Amino acid sequence: MSFQEKLEKNVWGMIAMVAVVVSIGGIVEIVPLFYLDNTMEKLNKDEDSIRPYTALQLEGRDVYIREGCYLCHSQMIRPFRDEKERYGHYSLAVESKYDHPFQWGSKRTGPDLARVGAKYSDEWQVQHLKAPRSLVPESVMPDYAFLADAKLDDSLTESKMRALKAVGVPYSDEDFKSAASAVRGKTEMDAMVAYLQVLGTMVKFQEGRDYRE
Ligand code: HEC
Repeated sequence: MSFQEKLEKNVWGMIAMVAVVVSIGGIVEIVPLFYLDNTMEKLNKDEDSIRPYTALQLEGRDVYIREGCYLCHSQMIRPFRDEKERYGHYSLAVESKYDHPFQWGSKRTGPDLARVGAKYSDEWQVQHLKAPRSLVPESVMPDYAFLADAKLDDSLTESKMRALKAVGVPYSDEDFKSAASAVRGKTEMDAMVAYLQVLGTMVKFQEGRDYRE
């Protein structure tokens, strides 16, 4: 019996062999990413204003995740012409370096939101979240009017920031101290709008300038 024949008749041998082959494939694909410079590009000093979310933006991000907005919205503009024309500069990996978990996604029932920050006014965002069809009649997005009545719970904000610090987000002691007061009395709507308005605005792309170091 050849090696192949023996293997095909032995379930455990087959499983072990599949695991070995798949791991080699995985290692060959994944390990180089840790060493290639262009997987995590460094930004120019002038363009680099990537910073952690403020307490309010962070609470907004949590509401975004809780409400499952990512089920209809991606946050990753691919480097294709049609995407750049519709949404703006393609997303850089470094723009999500403080996002845990990142919100790239691939499901686009609605448009990509990676650069929706500053695209509309705060008032537009509130009205759109309360009643999407009042602004975009053909929209299939659900109403989120209840966000305006839901007060944020400020008791956990600091712990959330501390948890993120543990995985490498550079929050300072000042940030921790002011965390609760920054969200006290604010609604989930305030937080959501603060979050949406910062998306994709941290890198200042300038025409004709290379953003890389
Ligand atoms: C059932 C799918 C669905 C869900 C869930 C959903 N959306 Fe949408 N969203 C859409 C669609 C479709 C559009 C495009 C029509 C419109 O503007 O209303 C849209 C548009 C938007 C826009 C405007 C984008 C632009 O560039 O014009 C924003 C901002 C937005 N959604 C935020 C959210 C947030 C925040 C949540 C979660 C609270 C959410 N969406 C949940 C489907 C969805």
